[in-house]
Amino acid sequence: MSETKSAYWERYYAKGSGLARPVPSQFAAFVAGELQGPYRVVEFGCGNGRDALFFASHGHEVTAIDGSSAATERGKAVADAHGEKVEFITSAIDAAELADLVSEAGDKTLVYARFFLHAITGAEEQAFLECAGELTKPGDLMAVEYRTIRDSSGVKETAEHYRRFMSPAEFQYSAIQHGFRVTYAVEGYGFAKYRQDDAYVARNLLERV
Ligand SMILES: C[S@@+](CC[C@H](N)C(=O)[O-])C[C@H]1O[C@@H](n2cnc3c(N)ncnc32)[C@H](O)[C@@H]1O
Repeated sequence: MSETKSAYWERYYAKGSGLARPVPSQFAAFVAGELQGPYRVVEFGCGNGRDALFFASHGHEVTAIDGSSAATERGKAVADAHGEKVEFITSAIDAAELADLVSEAGDKTLVYARFFLHAITGAEEQAFLECAGELTKPGDLMAVEYRTIRDSSGVKETAEHYRRFMSPAEFQYSAIQHGFRVTYAVEGYGFAKYRQDDAYVARNLLERV
């Protein structure tokens, strides 16, 4: 992560306070409904851990990764306060051998990233896909939600966040090149509304071939 971006996220998550159970994203609720049985969920760009805690509370074994130590420390404090078992790892997505830091796989793995892909660069997206490939075996799943090029206009509640507006076709092509197939793809408004910010997002479910 570049120094400026990294310092930004540290500052952003240092502002959080309190140990209340966070509300999960709409996407996490959707993905949880798609899973059959317990998974090892590896979340990238977990932020304050709100979706990681949610998956853990539904019986999944969760590893949550973020480049910001303020974010992972906050997530750990909240998880501990609520008795949820989540393994938090502080690491940039392009750190060498990141996949080796994640605990051994159970039967089935889900790689999960919500509002992470548009927060990283194209080169970091390649590192994400390589890491996802290392963590999965055929039949395993990936679930991602990200802002698309159609979201480049419109109100943003967090206007200062680094973002690149993504082309779903380009992301899906890259994912296919890394050994995944797209099993579900949808785009639109209304999937990730946050106050005045109704992001035009893409949701993709993918399976490792
Ligand atoms: C927009 S937030 C999304 C947080 C959470 N997934 C959510 O939906 O609330 C993006 C997250 O990605 C993390 N991040 C950004 N660039 C990163 C990188 N290169 N490596 C690891 N984490 C990164 C940030 O620290 C931040 O927590």
